[in-house]
Amino acid sequence: MNLLKRLGCRRASVLGLLAATVLVTPGTATGAPDAVQASTLGAQAAQSGRYFGTAVSAGRLGDGTYTGILDREFNSVTAENEMKWDATEPSRGSFTFGRADQIANRAQARGQRLRGHTLVWHSQLPGWVGSIRDANTLRGVMNNHITTVMNRYKGRIHSWDVVNEAFADGGSGQMRSSVFRDVLGTGFIEQAFRTARSADPAAKLCYNDYNIENWSDAKTQGVYRMVRDFKSRGVPIDCVGLQAHFGAGGPPGSFQTTLSNFAALGVDVQITELDIAQAPPTAYANTVRACMNVPRCTGITVWGIRDSDSWRSGENPLLFDRSGNKKPAYNATLTAMGGTPTAAHGKPAVTP
Ligand code: G3I
Repeated sequence: MNLLKRLGCRRASVLGLLAATVLVTPGTATGAPDAVQASTLGAQAAQSGRYFGTAVSAGRLGDGTYTGILDREFNSVTAENEMKWDATEPSRGSFTFGRADQIANRAQARGQRLRGHTLVWHSQLPGWVGSIRDANTLRGVMNNHITTVMNRYKGRIHSWDVVNEAFADGGSGQMRSSVFRDVLGTGFIEQAFRTARSADPAAKLCYNDYNIENWSDAKTQGVYRMVRDFKSRGVPIDCVGLQAHFGAGGPPGSFQTTLSNFAALGVDVQITELDIAQAPPTAYANTVRACMNVPRCTGITVWGIRDSDSWRSGENPLLFDRSGNKKPAYNATLTAMGGTPTAAHGKPAVTP
């Protein structure tokens, strides 16, 4: 069977695949290859129709080691900070897309897919928004922000984090206090999703949060109830982003259950900001395996490339070391997706 047809590849996947070393295991009696193993993260993820992405910082795009890994390994890109409100609308009605465009245009030119992060978030929010006290004004400002930013990238973003981190930590299971909840009420999330659907009907609309990986946590349950409510009332929501910023122990034992339970509501799930303190290979493998085991887990994004690029760089939580070398967690991740790690000379790595 034609390899590319069999893989059902989109353009990005095809490019990623061709860029990678692909190992085809000996054919069966029919002559068809019975397994295909790639040697990069994006190409291997693409074989099951998934993406493997990373957060990208515009300020690092001049670093050849960084871009070399980016273009070799990843087929989806999330702007780490450049699409946030403080970056895109620093003063009311005045939009700046320079750095976001840099990331988006670069990714598009290389056939990498784009995740949008993020439209409505209480953090990295310019002061002028936080000081609005009138509901009609804030509603108008929020809708205009969503519409303008989504229009800019219309048709180019596969998934948008429409609302980020709206739920409180701890045992309440409720939404956290923010200018949006406090001025507009808890209905601001529904409003944001409805506006987002009108702005770019082709984008998957995600609710994204951290500490919602453990099924029994009150925060997980609060988000689950919201998504269930949205689905039952026809509020447009397509996916839940689980950030997956883990400690050294990796994902909780219930992680796959959480992914499956959200998926059973009729939404995709995505791992959106993965990093793990000290990057234990087993912890990475367990995380990736949980996603691979859930058909509606459509992709994984790690939150940076090298440890030195990470927001928690002191914990060395990523897949590449400060010099850009693959860490043991890299091989564990690739292997968990069914890929074959290669040694530096391009041959399959010999594992002890
Ligand atoms: O842009 C300014 C720069 O002008 C200034 O000189 C410099 C001095 O500190 O700060 C720069 O801003 C920094 C910004 O990143 C851009 O580099 C902020 O201080 C810094 O706080 C900010 O951190 C980001 C953080 O979100 C802010 O909340 C991290 O890079 C980014 O990785 C992190 O990402 C978040 C996700 O968006 C949501 N989920 C959690 C995740 C980790 O916190």
